[in-house]
Amino acid sequence: MTPEEQRCDAVIWSAGRLRLLDQRLLPAQECYLDYADAPAVAAAITDMVVRGAPAIGIAAAYGVVLSIARHEGSPGWRKNVEEDVECLRQSRPTAVNLMWALDHMQSLVAGETEGSRALALAEKGAIAIHEADRRNNERMGSLGVDAIRKLSGDGPHVMMTHCNAGALATGGYGTALGVIRSAWKAGILARVHMDETRPWLQGSRLTAWELLRESIPAVLNADGAAAHLIRQQGVSWVVVGADRVAANGDAANKIGTYGLAILARHHGARVMVVAPTSTIDMSLSSGAQIPIEERTGDELLRYGNQLLGIEGCPVANPVFDVTPAELIDLLVTEKGVVEQPDSQKMEQLMARDSGPLSGSGSNG
Ligand code: MRU
Repeated sequence: MTPEEQRCDAVIWSAGRLRLLDQRLLPAQECYLDYADAPAVAAAITDMVVRGAPAIGIAAAYGVVLSIARHEGSPGWRKNVEEDVECLRQSRPTAVNLMWALDHMQSLVAGETEGSRALALAEKGAIAIHEADRRNNERMGSLGVDAIRKLSGDGPHVMMTHCNAGALATGGYGTALGVIRSAWKAGILARVHMDETRPWLQGSRLTAWELLRESIPAVLNADGAAAHLIRQQGVSWVVVGADRVAANGDAANKIGTYGLAILARHHGARVMVVAPTSTIDMSLSSGAQIPIEERTGDELLRYGNQLLGIEGCPVANPVFDVTPAELIDLLVTEKGVVEQPDSQKMEQLMARDSGPLSGSGSNG
């Protein structure tokens, strides 16, 4: 087993091949699948073998490398690669990191007519996206802890999280779970309550798996228990990730985040959204323009082959919602922290310089 497999990295690139940890099977099985072409990577994103906004972007970037490797020897290879990029772009609609990573990869190889040189450039570029994501998460972890200390002291704080915004959803360490990991190391976390996150169970299957492996005190709850627990357990911080943040600070994240933010405001808990700037889409003026993915009703009606509901029952299954900026106390990015985000503060944030692999701020 490689060190990456031992750590259970979601995305592994090794000797020109892509390995994805099959998150559909966790926590029962830790199983890696190998990918050799871009359409298969696109299908893996659609089917949620790999999921979580930054991890999807990283997998897609490697998908572009696989595409160039497959086609570069043939005449007209660029057209085939463009078709693959389009296929990757269509794999999931909400997380803008996917579009950001594909735009970045396309711009890296745009001027390169020599196939083997394009391949070398693309591989270097995808590895850089992957490594920068992990670095950004570690930076956001410490910025998040500093912000918690500044606003509400050393605690120790009771926190709540929703979905999985951890190492499994990113290049490593995690966004929301990065802050939670750093808070635990800093001694300012009492425990974290984890919403199970119906219907795909990212909380009970993935977040619980990550946190318990590291002995971080974590307690699972049904989504519907959140209001009761926030009040009864004195939750002071709700810490979540994001899939796309609009230019006014509205943030799309896993379905249920919006409701959780309302509960937090009612009970005097603060809401922290942790996301790299590759998740920020400055081309959308508000969250109303963010495309919300609808997935099959079977996610609610069945678990595996077992029918849980009534065959044929009409189902609404939007898998993301938008939390309005006015309910967000802090937006933590690798470029810095924004208190009560709004359009002006978002522009100022994006104008800050923090190296080549901070987000471009456009969905291209
Ligand atoms: O449908 P998923 O599992 O891809 O949704 C993931 C989330 O909503 C995460 O909270 C978000 O991508 C942030 S991950 C760092």
